[in-house]
Amino acid sequence: MKPTPACTDIQDFLKLLAEEDELCRISSHVSCELEIAHIVSETSRNLGPALLFENTDGSIPVLANTLGSLKRICIALGVEDLNQAAERTINLLAGNNRASDSGDYTKSASNPQFHETVFEGDRIDLSSLPVLRCWPGDAGPAITLPVVFTRDPENNTPNAGMYRMQIIDRDTACMHWYPGTGGAMHFEKACRMGTHLDVAVAIGTEPAVMLSACAPLPADLYEIEFAASLAGRKIEMASCLHSNLEVPASSQIVLEGICVPGETQFEGPFGTHTGYYSRKERFPVFHVKSIGMRSNAIFTTTVPGPPPQEDCFMAKAIERLLLPALKQKFPELVDINFPLEGIFGRMVFVSMHKQHPGHPEQLIHALWNMGRGMFSRMIWVFDNDVNIQDISEVLWKMSNCVNPARDIILGHGPTDTLDPHADICGTACRMGLDCTEKWPEERDGMPWPERIVPDKRTITKTAVIIEQILGKARQKS
Ligand SMILES: Cc1cc2nc3c(=O)[nH]c(=O)nc-3n(C[C@H](O)[C@H](O)[C@H](O)COP(=O)(O)O)c2cc1C
Repeated sequence: MKPTPACTDIQDFLKLLAEEDELCRISSHVSCELEIAHIVSETSRNLGPALLFENTDGSIPVLANTLGSLKRICIALGVEDLNQAAERTINLLAGNNRASDSGDYTKSASNPQFHETVFEGDRIDLSSLPVLRCWPGDAGPAITLPVVFTRDPENNTPNAGMYRMQIIDRDTACMHWYPGTGGAMHFEKACRMGTHLDVAVAIGTEPAVMLSACAPLPADLYEIEFAASLAGRKIEMASCLHSNLEVPASSQIVLEGICVPGETQFEGPFGTHTGYYSRKERFPVFHVKSIGMRSNAIFTTTVPGPPPQEDCFMAKAIERLLLPALKQKFPELVDINFPLEGIFGRMVFVSMHKQHPGHPEQLIHALWNMGRGMFSRMIWVFDNDVNIQDISEVLWKMSNCVNPARDIILGHGPTDTLDPHADICGTACRMGLDCTEKWPEERDGMPWPERIVPDKRTITKTAVIIEQILGKARQKS
């Protein structure tokens, strides 16, 4: 299949999912209080379809698990496999072909559908949205799949990121910005300058924007430029009513408002993808000035929980999208794997062409020092010929090649606030593991044992008999 431009909005995506039998509609009433989340979590864990809850606690349907498989992510992006999508973005990630100055990756939309109904003043009521409470110990309902837009108060540079938002009351929410994220840095600057920060929250954007908003992109690359290259077309952006922010015209619902310097409030606890609840901590308060929505708005959401959940597949897609650019930066790198259990890149397997003793350690430190690579708490490095997508091979090689006294590389640095090991400063110990075969110079001159492989003549001579045996076994199973 020739790649086509990505789907334009959630309604377009739903049509494509239905055509591919990747969508299940639920017409019986299901509550936003724990019930939807439980159904979504069980469905994701069993690698089930996208779910559209048509009969929820309000009039707006709830859509979940849309990006919970690589097939659905490919459908969203109009590609057959993610390498085709990676080809679209490689130049951009490598720092070439940036269109930032000309803004050539967007189109202006003058009458976005999310302005069809606008609630302001007393008519603002966040409880009218079908926001899920996911786990019994959650502090309340939280928006889990928003794309949050801000601008740097000093130089106007835009940022879009995905951050959980706890609903506090009719017109306030809490912004769960980890330290160091784009949103957090813009807010810190606003606080220093003593000015409020304009914030626009887009719910239900086209999928390319959602994926871009959670990808660990270089700090100088605007997520919407990345989304445009990922989508293979320009992204339509529309102006906000209360600020100079722009949001995707495809958005289903847009919350506009401000965060006020110094104003924070306790957020959490919330169940997270670690399988544990997050700590209750103070985060900036978001005051809503307006809620705009399409007349046929759909509320998109995801359920954070122990893997595999939807975010694991978003991480897998990001792994494939980032690989070509990482290979350009580190020519020795062969492949990467964010295992599903390693929750969004906290654990990373890497295979490499080792060129000198100590090379794996060097690569581990380089990855830790690279933007949000710093959040990978465990990086295991393997030789180039190890299939790191095969967990059985990974564990086999790790068991044989690691000498704990020599091959564990410890570091310390920033981690995300959900990390159970995060200390009060948001840092944690991290571990690199050199799982490569060791060269004689790395073992006081002792050669590495010879690998056992059958000889070619025997392989050829026995091939037919082996196929007969295994063919029969395959038929039985
Ligand atoms: C479903 C989902 C929820 C997330 N929630 C948060 C969150 O609550 N806070 C946060 O700082 N990052 C969260 N992230 C990770 C950020 O989206 C990610 O680090 C992103 O790169 C941030 O963008 P930025 O660097 O432009 O700030 C989440 C990611 C996903 C996929």
